[in-house]
Amino acid sequence: MALAAQYIREGKLVAFPTETVYGLGADAFNASTVARVFEAKERPSFDPLIVHIAGIHQLDELFLAPIDARVYQLAEAFWPGPLTIVHNKQSQVPDLVTSGLSTVAVRMPSHPMALQLIRESGKAIAAPSANRFGCLSPTRAEHVIKQLKTIDYVLDGGATTIGVESTVVSVSEAGVKILRHGAITREAISNVVDVVDEKVKVNTEGLPAPGMIKSHYSPLKPLYVLKEGIPATLPAGSGIIVNDARDMPRFPEVKSLALSQKGDLNEMAVHLFAALHAMEDDDQVREIYIQPVEEIGIGRAIMDRLRKASYNYQK
Ligand code: TXA
Ligand code: MG
Repeated sequence: MALAAQYIREGKLVAFPTETVYGLGADAFNASTVARVFEAKERPSFDPLIVHIAGIHQLDELFLAPIDARVYQLAEAFWPGPLTIVHNKQSQVPDLVTSGLSTVAVRMPSHPMALQLIRESGKAIAAPSANRFGCLSPTRAEHVIKQLKTIDYVLDGGATTIGVESTVVSVSEAGVKILRHGAITREAISNVVDVVDEKVKVNTEGLPAPGMIKSHYSPLKPLYVLKEGIPATLPAGSGIIVNDARDMPRFPEVKSLALSQKGDLNEMAVHLFAALHAMEDDDQVREIYIQPVEEIGIGRAIMDRLRKASYNYQK
């Protein structure tokens, strides 16, 4: 941890666990290090990063005063935790972090290693998910090492406990809008502040907003979301991921994995990316089939990821 914090201060790239997925961290105020984050991920520069903080006072160097009261209401209710808040930025926040937008995304993670890294480095840490752009998100240190070859250090905190990325909301005069579904549900947010429309398509500056990129989170093999239940048979060399272990099929020469023991949505989210990585890594598996989930609670986030992950493969 001491070395990782020193590396952040020195402008190096450190991957670290959060409760959602692993992030690829860099000092948010060091523009040349932030540039290396985009390089390491092969991420287009129009996709802005989330800045991670460990204390509410750090908002003052990121958000432009006066900070909307709803920002504090949301922070009070959900931080530390898997909620990212987008709000007007201070001019000192590097344009590279925000892709030139007038807003910046900020989150206070709850993972103790993430909080310790931010505190010990003394920096606000810009961190996208630690995967190659468009590829499967990392929920274990091994997933990071598999995908990113040019980073300086990985803090290994084992498997993450939520498994899908944070919910992203924007707070502006236009109201509070959900830009990306995640573990904090729309229902939970609505209990704290009023939420307007389900989704924004294009942000005010005309740049792609979250949700605009249709193919994302994809394995390096064809992925199909099953439409009509578990099929009676599958071709040899397939992999199938089911929601409930009790429904696990036994097809010959087909790899089967279950996301939960008894169909619990939170448990499914935890195992989603790890199961997809396991299928991606298995040379015997040529194509992957997965069951859809009910779009309630965290199920919305799961289906959002699955639709994007399977975007290029429809049957
Ligand atoms: O759970 C998470 O959020 C993880 C962990 C590491 O914290 N991070 C993560 O980062 O998922 P990333 O870069 O994969 O996704 C960040 C999302 C992107 O969809 C990006 O477009 C959106 O947040 N975003 C960032 N800044 C924004 C802004 N100023 N306005 C609108 N959307 C923004
Ligand atoms: Mg990502």
